[in-house]
Amino acid sequence: MAASGAPLWAVCVLRLALATVYFQEEFLDGERWRNRWVQSTNDSQLGHFRLSSGKFYGHKEKDKGLQTTQNGRFYAISARFKPFSNKGKTLVIQYTVKHEQKMDCGGGYIKVFPADVDQKNLNGKSQYYIMFGPDICGFDIKKVHVILHFKNQYHSNKKSIRCKVDGFTHLYTLILRPDLTYEVKIDSQSIEAGSIEYDWNLTSLKKMEKSSAESKDWAQAKDDKSQDWEKHFLDASASKPSDWNSELDGDWPAPMLQKPPYQDGLKPEGIDKDVWLHQKMKNTNYLTEYDLSEFENIGAIGLELWQVRSGTIFDNFLITDDEEYAENFGKTTWGETKGPEREMDAILAKEEMKKAHEEDEEELLMGKFNGQESHFHRFHRRDEF
Ligand SMILES: *[C@@H]1O[C@H](CO)[C@@H](O)[C@H](O)[C@H]1NC(C)=O
Ligand SMILES: *[C@@H]1O[C@H](CO)[C@@H](O)[C@H](O)[C@H]1NC(C)=O
Repeated sequence: MAASGAPLWAVCVLRLALATVYFQEEFLDGERWRNRWVQSTNDSQLGHFRLSSGKFYGHKEKDKGLQTTQNGRFYAISARFKPFSNKGKTLVIQYTVKHEQKMDCGGGYIKVFPADVDQKNLNGKSQYYIMFGPDICGFDIKKVHVILHFKNQYHSNKKSIRCKVDGFTHLYTLILRPDLTYEVKIDSQSIEAGSIEYDWNLTSLKKMEKSSAESKDWAQAKDDKSQDWEKHFLDASASKPSDWNSELDGDWPAPMLQKPPYQDGLKPEGIDKDVWLHQKMKNTNYLTEYDLSEFENIGAIGLELWQVRSGTIFDNFLITDDEEYAENFGKTTWGETKGPEREMDAILAKEEMKKAHEEDEEELLMGKFNGQESHFHRFHRRDEF
């Protein structure tokens, strides 16, 4: 039954109109990408990118992306967009990557940077918000990184997510939702999902908070204007339910506690009430929602990585707040060309096999001829004595 009479296409258009697309890059305008992407000049040895769809592809033009061109190099390139905060919104980061050189060791991930990143000087130390995507090195490392930056520290995902290791183009999607859940998809399939709080190693974060608070004395804390204490704290007095299994269920999330009402009588002279509150609660391990999934000033995306053997192609970059939009974008880009890409690869493989076979036969013939020739030479040389 067609519900309210609105045709499906209208619903789709409306849906897409609601999505906010912060960044989208398909490299469809020839060499003009060079006006949008900034190559870092931090090191003269940094490798260069070119626009290419590679040795085999689904569509010669549509599959063009940034390809690494030099072996044994670091690469650093980035593009800017209008800065935004993902506060209270879903954040979807998506792109395609193809290791057609059969990657042996090298990065295939992207980094999302704050707007104040120095693009010209981009390097391994440039602070980022999010690092996402495959990393391959030998037999041991074949993983998808999801590294999030909170409170001046990088936090890796605890769950190991295996990446694709073949030479075809794959679609990687990271979703961070405001309810503190996340999802990683490869080729539109959900590979890992759960809670940011449980699946990242935040122990260090809790410890750091505690020790840094303890090391501060009253006077220091009073002067620290940068402190931005949150409205919610974990309820330190609540205790873990007896049936909670930390092994299976992860760290127990203590319920959130409203900031206790400020009581004038308890206030030490001349001390800001928030500092007072912080001191009062300094022994609790608190984490706020703010810390876990919000990035205030997202403003650039880049490739900052090392490759032993070059040839990787990055394409179809997307940053949006809409999961459905990302899904559709994936379908109309990677979804359209993945089949033809495999077909072309199969045809090339067949041709190569045929050529190799012909070369083998030729060599066999040449070998016979060479054999005769050397026999001939030997004969003559012997004759010279
Ligand atoms: C590269 O970046 C580092 C760290 O930001 C900086 O100290 C160094 O001067 C930069 N090098 C060049 C050549 O700009
Ligand atoms: C979590 O972080 C702590 C503190 O930095 C570290 O000692 C521990 O090894 C980490 N655990 C994992 C699984 O990475």
